[in-house]
Amino acid sequence: MQNDLGNYRKAYEKSALMEGSISENPMELFQKWFYEVEASDGVDETNAMTLSTMGLDGFPKSRVVLLKKYTHEGFIFYTNYKSEKGRAIAENPNVCISFFWPNLERQVIIKGRANKIAENLSDGYFQSRPVGSQLGAIVSDQSSVIPSRDVLEEELKRLEKEFEGKEIERPEWWGGYLVAPVSMEFWQGRPNRLHDRIRFTLEGIDWKIERLAP
Ligand SMILES: Cc1cc2nc3c(=O)[nH]c(=O)nc-3n(C[C@H](O)[C@H](O)[C@H](O)COP(=O)(O)O)c2cc1C
Repeated sequence: MQNDLGNYRKAYEKSALMEGSISENPMELFQKWFYEVEASDGVDETNAMTLSTMGLDGFPKSRVVLLKKYTHEGFIFYTNYKSEKGRAIAENPNVCISFFWPNLERQVIIKGRANKIAENLSDGYFQSRPVGSQLGAIVSDQSSVIPSRDVLEEELKRLEKEFEGKEIERPEWWGGYLVAPVSMEFWQGRPNRLHDRIRFTLEGIDWKIERLAP
């Protein structure tokens, strides 16, 4: 079986990223790009990002998670702390997150350190979730091997009865991570493969700004 994709080719010409038009802080540029992507039709989940961790088996692993908040401190997502990614982060908090926004021909790659956020912040977010998502998080021992889907459905039904009309507490093994960036690279597709790449690297409290060859 083969599928030759050699002639899949796209001309990138929607925008540019020039030194004269960027702020000194990469979070501000991230916010500007995020807003622009949101405002232009075509991306379903602007906040979907690929999170890569260094696995305990020695392999990097990437998976999509949802960005739930960003501030000057970094990027917050929520997950099961006992999942494969949770166990990887406990061993090595250095992670990479990346966004691909094809509608504006943009990519952002962020290297940073992941740390659990304060418990009260995770509590607040957990309480804001729909009941179905709260119970789903409790039912799923994320990343563990299970015998069948039925096991999940039955456990969900049981918990729906148990918690009917009651407040559901966040399990202590579920919560948020903040990824504090040390490097943020912005990629803007340009014609003739001469794309713009601007990298911000944290040096002390300042960000060094460099242009990279495409
Ligand atoms: C669009 C999308 C959004 C997702 N959002 C999350 C999320 O916010 N948190 C999460 O734990 N998993 C999320 N997942 C599932 C993860 O990709 C992954 O399957 C899960 O976290 C288990 O990963 P692990 O076994 O590597 O820990 C999402 C998947 C997709 C495709």
